Amino acid sequence: MTKPYYVTTPIYYVNGMPHIGAALTTIACDAIARYQRMLGSDAFLLTGTDENAAKVLAAAEQQGEDPAEFVCGLAAEFRSCWNALHVEYSDFIRTTEARHTLAVQECVRRLIATGDIYRGEYEGWYSISDETFFRDSEVDNGFANETGKPVVRVSEPGYYFRLSAFADRLLQHINSNPQFLQPESRRNEVTSYISEGLRDMYITRPNRGWGITVPGDESCVVYVWLDALVNYLAAAGWPDEMEARNLWPADLHMVGKEIFVRFHATLWPAMLMALNLPLPKQIFAHGWFTVHGAKGGKTGPSLPHPVRLAEFIRDRSGCTIAAAVDAERYLLCRTMSFAGDSEFSVSACLQRFNIDLANDLGNLVNRTVNMTCRYCGGLVPQPSDAPQPLAEFVATVAHDVAAAMESVRLNVSLDAAWQLVSRMNKYLDEHAPWALAPRAAAGDAVAAEQLGDVLYAGLEASRVASVLLYPFMPEVSRAIRQQIGGECGASPPTWAEAAWGGLKPGSRLGSAEPIFPRIRETNVSHTELEDLASRRSPVRQSGQAGTTVTNESAPAPVGQEPITIEEFGRIDLRVAEVLAAEPVTGATRLLRLTVHLGGDDTRTILAGIAEAYRPEELEGKRVVVVANLQPRVMRGIESKGMLLAADSDGKAILIEPDQSAPLGARVR
Ligand code: MSP
Repeated sequence: MTKPYYVTTPIYYVNGMPHIGAALTTIACDAIARYQRMLGSDAFLLTGTDENAAKVLAAAEQQGEDPAEFVCGLAAEFRSCWNALHVEYSDFIRTTEARHTLAVQECVRRLIATGDIYRGEYEGWYSISDETFFRDSEVDNGFANETGKPVVRVSEPGYYFRLSAFADRLLQHINSNPQFLQPESRRNEVTSYISEGLRDMYITRPNRGWGITVPGDESCVVYVWLDALVNYLAAAGWPDEMEARNLWPADLHMVGKEIFVRFHATLWPAMLMALNLPLPKQIFAHGWFTVHGAKGGKTGPSLPHPVRLAEFIRDRSGCTIAAAVDAERYLLCRTMSFAGDSEFSVSACLQRFNIDLANDLGNLVNRTVNMTCRYCGGLVPQPSDAPQPLAEFVATVAHDVAAAMESVRLNVSLDAAWQLVSRMNKYLDEHAPWALAPRAAAGDAVAAEQLGDVLYAGLEASRVASVLLYPFMPEVSRAIRQQIGGECGASPPTWAEAAWGGLKPGSRLGSAEPIFPRIRETNVSHTELEDLASRRSPVRQSGQAGTTVTNESAPAPVGQEPITIEEFGRIDLRVAEVLAAEPVTGATRLLRLTVHLGGDDTRTILAGIAEAYRPEELEGKRVVVVANLQPRVMRGIESKGMLLAADSDGKAILIEPDQSAPLGARVR
């Protein structure tokens, strides 16, 4: 049995909603898997969610939600997002699943047995936001130099992975397999990183009730990166069903650049070497989408939510949601330079929609089908025996598209496909079938023959384009084939169908429907952008500036839509005093507060402030409470209201009246 082509996306942290950065990686992998299926391979696309991270736990606690329920909700969000984006994944792995936990524990067990994992003490820096340990030399003033994210000092007993022992083998493998790490520029970063000297890696954290415990030592959980990487093996059936599944080694791990050097290109192959397992054939790192004005970083939360963006495109164009989703798939892959970063702009996407999709592709299909209906009775015309000038060109284009797909240059592949679309539009303009038609109708046999050739060429170019673009725009590809009367059953086209001459003369066309109606207004207002942003979700992201309310509510980015005074008046804010505060068992960020709002109003409120305040600091403190919030049960305790706090980089700072305002006084 031939081994399926095995391609993986990174597994996404479920501390926030999906955004188009994650969508790009996922769509790119889907396009590659679809292309492989067109070639006849039984391609297997793996995606999933990374759920055991400290930042995921922190996000759940900040929401006041049970972490297990929280991750379930977000994993479902990711799954439904990929479904909506026409991603045909073969498996969706969650790191809280038993098959993953078993694989991670087996990996640790085996590496302890070989001596590649050993006990030790760790003292250094940890960034929760990056889920990365940093050395003293990599940190400046409490922030990681590489990412600018805050770090905390950690000093704890745990376990190390003997990474240093693999430096030479890693370099040797990288140097003798040029395809292993791509693109080349990033491979050089890896070789410099390894050559500078690898140190053993600390690979556990203290057990705070979340994560996969070290087998035989309940006091530690496995560091989330060592845990997460094993997903690629777990989904391939490791340890027991690896042979039966016949997936490993992976053909391609596609990842973003920030998780390439340290993790995918160094730690992961070293782990596989230690386990005596074959290495993946290729690890490919793409750059980031950045947002104008945002300071560095991958700026995920400011990027649009992928489904909202598709709906926005649909609303602006009037196209179907299926066409809008495919347009987004196309726009993301075409805009992204796979070697470097690219700036993302919704307005630029809309402009490109008009140029590439409405004008070029849409117009080619629409005018060809329309003219064939008008001039040839809606039947595919019979081309003459004269050599077809575009046949050879199509073969070159198909070859270029395939070569770019093989080397994961998806934007280059789309550039090549567009050569055909542009050339054919030019060909139609040059041969003007609208001028040939009246002459043909008047009995001019030469004009009639030319008309048949030109329209056949237009239909055939549309058909070939629908084949070449299928990996990126599966539903649009189908719609094109439906209109030109091509074969478009349930199964995808094969790559062989990209050869010239597939349309049968005499077959009947479908009706001409514009697939991509032109967008009239390509400007996008600030409010619309804010509405599209993935941070504007029911899920609150940590670390946002601005005054927020602990435990509850969507984030309120500064400068958001105004509310009326009446709307504000519906919130009953009261001065209150904290009578007692105590930790909540199993929840590291929650405190249980007994709060007095004056008179006989004493209630329990759960607040996600345990990391910022010790219980004894809170007793007797005057605070501001949202008194009319719907009660909510968390960790089996009913919380009635919440405290106001400023959010300073994820740290809560309680709002206090600056004089001793009476208890129960209204705040407005
Ligand atoms: N959980 C880890 C991956 C573990 S894989 C064993 C992780 N997750 S993540 O959710 O933070 O990011 C996953 C991927 O999302 C990145 O590698 C990258 O592919 C993609 N992107 C996130 N933000 C992005 C942009 N702004 N632009 C492009 N892609 C980005 O890291």
